[in-house]
Amino acid sequence: MPLRGILKETDMSFFATANHWFHLTSVVFWMGGLAFQLFVIAPFTVSDNPPPAYLTALSNRFNKIVGPIILILIATGGVNIGFRRAGHEALPPGYISMLGVKVFLVASIASIHFFGMIRSQLDDRTDTNQPPTLPRLGYARLSFALGVLIIFIASMLRQWKF
Ligand code: HEM
Repeated sequence: MPLRGILKETDMSFFATANHWFHLTSVVFWMGGLAFQLFVIAPFTVSDNPPPAYLTALSNRFNKIVGPIILILIATGGVNIGFRRAGHEALPPGYISMLGVKVFLVASIASIHFFGMIRSQLDDRTDTNQPPTLPRLGYARLSFALGVLIIFIASMLRQWKF
């Protein structure tokens, strides 16, 4: 293979690797953050210790990181599809269906996040005299469960012969 061809291919596989790494690292940050809240912080939380205001600040800080993570996942996920498609006439229909399920679940988990942000901002504006309440973990649990399911589908996309 001529040198230019080899360089071109190396460039492509480096870009594919960097993109995949970015995708996986974002998943680790998001799911790791949720797991830390659910399995490390929550079991040690008793009423007023740590103070609800501290937990709310922690949860708000985490939510600020999740927005950009979702954008990165959508962008790198799209590029992942491009690399999977490269060199093939078309992607197998089974693969496209599973990908559709994955994207639907991603849209659900992203909606939980964005509606949660809107709700907490509305709460901030209306509840001026209310004492701070503990952040609700129900949505974190649901997001984590969906995330685990999405990771299973990602493994299927990689391992199954479609
Ligand atoms: C719209 C958003 C997303 C799109 C379009 C997308 C698309 C993809 C694609 C096409 C792959 C490569 C699959 C293959 O090997 O054939 C992939 C890998 C992966 N995705 Fe996503 N993804 C998205 C969001 C997410 C989210 C939110 C998660 C987790 C919560 C996730 C977890 C993973 C994992 C763990 C892999 C790696 C699979 C492996 O390396 O074996 N993705 N994604």
